[in-house]
Parts: sequence; C-alpha cells; structure tokens
Amino acid sequence: MIYAANWKMNGDREFVHYILSQIKDNILPFLSYGSDIILCPPSIYLSEATDICKNTSIEIGAQDCSAHENGAFTGEVSAQMISDTGSEWVILGHSERRQYHAENNILLIDKLRNAHNAGLKVIFCVGETHQQYNEGTTRETLKDQLSVLDNARLANLNYMIAYEPVWAIGTGLAPELEEIDVIHQFIKKQLIDTAILPKKTRVLYGGSVSPNNAKDIKALASVDGVLVGGASLSSDKFKQICI
Ligand code: 13P
Repeated sequence: MIYAANWKMNGDREFVHYILSQIKDNILPFLSYGSDIILCPPSIYLSEATDICKNTSIEIGAQDCSAHENGAFTGEVSAQMISDTGSEWVILGHSERRQYHAENNILLIDKLRNAHNAGLKVIFCVGETHQQYNEGTTRETLKDQLSVLDNARLANLNYMIAYEPVWAIGTGLAPELEEIDVIHQFIKKQLIDTAILPKKTRVLYGGSVSPNNAKDIKALASVDGVLVGGASLSSDKFKQICI
C-alpha cells in the first residue's frame, strides 16, 4: 500500500521539520510490510525534506514541475532541479493545476517527458468534475486524461495513477466504495489496453481520504494506495490512515 501525502501550499519550515520527525518516529516503524510513504512538500522545502529523510524508506516528491527543460521561465522549477534535491517523485496533472493554471493534455505531455528525462517517477492525477460526474461522462473524461500517457510515448516511464474526483477534493465527500472500485478497475483496464505501458500500474485513490474512510477504501482490491491532502497535514490523522 502506498501512502502519499500532498501538503499543497501549506505549512512552513517549522511545520515541515515537525511533521517529518513525527512521521519518521511515530508512523514509519509501524507501517505494514510492503507499504511505502511518499511525501510531497512545497518545492522550496524539498532539499530539507530529503535531508531529514535520508537513511529512511520515506520517499520525497514535488507537487509539479515545469514543462520546459530550462531557460527564461521566471518562477518555474525544472524536473532536473527537483531531481537535484534528491526527490524521487513528482505529482503531475493535479486538478488544482488543471483548474488554476489551465494545464491541458499538451502541456502535460511535455511535463511527463521532462520528469522522465530527469529520472523522476510520476504520480499522474486524473479525475472528473462534479458536472462530468452528474452527466455520466466520468469514463470519457478519464480516458481523455489517460491518453496523455500513451501520447507521450515514454516506454519506460515510471509512474502511478491517482484517481482524484475533483468534487471529492477537500469537500469531505468521497464516492461510494463501489464507485471507487469500479473506476479503479476501469483505469487499470484502460492502461492494460494501452500497449506501450507497463501492465501493472498502481492506482491510488485521492479525495477526502480521512481516518473515518481510509480503512474501507484501502480494503478494496483495486486500490493500491491513497493520496491524502488535508488529513496529511496532521500527523495523528495521517497515522490513523496509514496504520
Ligand atoms: P484532500 O485529501 O484534502 O481532499 O485532497 C486530496 C488531494 O487533492 C490530494 O492530492
């Protein structure tokens, strides 16, 4: 089981140090065999996070990377720079990036290429809006979002998928367990049908994961892990989700 935390633009230096020590001391030793923790702090703290987690099994990831390799792109952080911090992962295609930064499939292909070339592993996020959910177009939406992986033509891309329904993010509303299961199976089938990609891609669920629902979500055979936002900002809540 993968336990990934997306801290988004939260916390400060003191918080990062505090929560990392809590996770190292109070969660990691109790994690079940075969489980992994991936923590995604704001990019400014990546180096400190990799330093603090050195010699542990905790892996560190960024929340985004530039679509460009380098150059005059003020404020952007390249995949290679992320890799230089010792981080191993990058989240791409998060719905907040799609929504607030107009990220589309074409841009995401470039981001995937850069991440891949820099040796980063990718957590690729997909998910439907509430409107798409209500209109019954979830599958078409996901198919379109997943087509980026095929179109990027990166045979050895190391990635997993995070299924995050937009309407479930930060709302306290999660889909029914059966809905999560069916959609995860749909995503896995989509990936298997795509010849150039590995057959056994892990699919995480994200969107209002909490201590109340984590156990049931994790029990679904199609769920390989969770991507936690708000609840991962509390080491107590994150512990209850992980253990
Ligand atoms: P919440 O867990 O706060 O709903 O956020 C989920 C998310 O966006 C993780 O990437």
